[in-house]
Amino acid sequence: MCGIVGYVGPGSSLEVLMGGLRRLEYRGYDSAGVAVLDDDGELGVRKRAGKLAVLAGELESDGIRDGHTGIGHTRWATHGGPTDGNAHPHLGDDGRLALIHNGIIENFAELKAELADETFTSETDTEIAALLVGRLYRETGDLTEALRRAVARLEGAFTILAMHRDDPGVVVGARRNSPLVIGLGEGENFLGSDVAAFVAYTKRAMEIGQDQIVTIRPDSVEVTDFAGNPVTPTQFEIAWDASAAEKGGWPSFMKKEVSEEPAAVANTLRGRIHDGRVTLPELDAIAEILDGVTRIIVIACGTAAYAGMLGRYAIEAWSRIPIDVELSHEFRYRDPVLDEHTLVVSVSQSGETMDTLRAVQYAREKGARTLAICNTQGATIPRESDAVLYIHAGPEVAVASTKAFVAQVTALYLLGLDLAARRGTLSPERIAELIVELQNVPDKLDDVLDAASSRIAEFTRWLAETQSVIFLGRHVGYPVALEGALKLKEIAYIHAEGFAAGELKHGPIALIEPGQLVIVLVPSPRNDDSLHPKVVSNIQEIRARGARVIAIAEVGDVAVVPFADEVIRIPFAGPFFEPILGVVPLHIFAMEMASAKGLDVDQPRNLAKSVTVE
Ligand code: F6R
Repeated sequence: MCGIVGYVGPGSSLEVLMGGLRRLEYRGYDSAGVAVLDDDGELGVRKRAGKLAVLAGELESDGIRDGHTGIGHTRWATHGGPTDGNAHPHLGDDGRLALIHNGIIENFAELKAELADETFTSETDTEIAALLVGRLYRETGDLTEALRRAVARLEGAFTILAMHRDDPGVVVGARRNSPLVIGLGEGENFLGSDVAAFVAYTKRAMEIGQDQIVTIRPDSVEVTDFAGNPVTPTQFEIAWDASAAEKGGWPSFMKKEVSEEPAAVANTLRGRIHDGRVTLPELDAIAEILDGVTRIIVIACGTAAYAGMLGRYAIEAWSRIPIDVELSHEFRYRDPVLDEHTLVVSVSQSGETMDTLRAVQYAREKGARTLAICNTQGATIPRESDAVLYIHAGPEVAVASTKAFVAQVTALYLLGLDLAARRGTLSPERIAELIVELQNVPDKLDDVLDAASSRIAEFTRWLAETQSVIFLGRHVGYPVALEGALKLKEIAYIHAEGFAAGELKHGPIALIEPGQLVIVLVPSPRNDDSLHPKVVSNIQEIRARGARVIAIAEVGDVAVVPFADEVIRIPFAGPFFEPILGVVPLHIFAMEMASAKGLDVDQPRNLAKSVTVE
């Protein structure tokens, strides 16, 4: 939540900041602002409520002077509504210091009382930090020291960037439980909430650890801990190009990212399969626990949690290790039983979700070992875990997660196959067969996209007025039903619920009245699990009560035809692979419904992509 960018160097600060904010806008889009120090030493600040385009328009018609030191912010409101006044940057009391912030300062009321003699111009917690750092700068004459002393007073989660009129060519940053990475240029340096902020300028980046302070100048980067001890940060190469974070001709990022679902699965598999075996050297760091693990707990939120639910079916079936899936924000409040034989697997696209990060930290404190499944290099959750499996899905910009979901499921399946091989719970031949099925998924996903896209676009036109949709699935179809419902709520603002189809008669069937739209994931009749006839019976039960039914069913499954108003076909796949295919029509459905209602599918209301507050 909130995107942050900082720049020092010979280039145009406004260009770097606005380009960075455009790539970070997925993190928050209710207001935006920039501060730039021009060559005459004047500090120009411009900030506006609304999306970044409002600020961009204003800068074009009535701009501030450009310069070589600047900070920029795109906001997701926490303290104080989305107004011009609450937008960042905020200024110190003498107007010489500008500061931006991502996170929540929990002791802000106490600090505000201490600063009672100041005049407050906003309702934000951030302004407190700006006033504090401004005062401390006057005392110390050193921006890094002023920030260090200020963060010692702050409680909560924060990334803070600050710059001062009297210190041209310097931007300082501090982080605790919120993301910040450094971009290393030639004669210029950058700070950003993630590498998307500066990937257009450099692919060399450095991680900043927990409770660290960074000072960037055009030709130097210094990192220390909050106590002032020097730190040598880890450097890494950004694995994707700036163009990967651009729409590239697609009408929306979401449409582009849905089209990339086949590639996301292929990229997760790439380099990890050799001679019919899974090879995951990333797991070496936890090899000894993997050999003796007695229990796995997957922690995640939202779509990532549904990926975790799918992972459970496969990992438990293949490795025979008991596995639970829990929402991260519930996990640590129920005093779970954890020990050194428990493996806690976090699933997070951003690697920054605060609820998941806190749950990982809690699990480690309690002695469990932790594995992160993550998409974002340099993110906090992998850094705070014992091992990480990156999904390599490429940057996901649309707020609603799509390609990361199929890649997360793929990574969990690789983990399941690795565990089955280690424990000998599946024969090498069976593992090789399952690997082939997994490798076939990208091509099958291409077929689903070809067949489903235009068909769904056609019939959503007559469904745009729909007020409520029910999604049904059994076994691996159940998490997919939940994911379909979440996507529809999230981007099309339509009330939707996902149910396990077997649960219908225990209550939810009372919701069915004539015209109710129900989308059903129908398992393949060819998979030997006797689920197909049960789901077909469920469809008959709801049809008898007047429901309109859209079935997602395998090519050639004729049993559903008499009972469905529409059938979306997916290719045959084994039971664990079917849901990766079945979810794609649901992603398309939500996207088309939102488009039919004229909504912005990339930036749905009230949401932000990376939820860095609890
Ligand atoms: C839904 C969605 C969210 C995220 C959730 C976790 O489309 O995107 O439910 O899946 O906020 O985010 P990450 O995976 O970044 O931890």
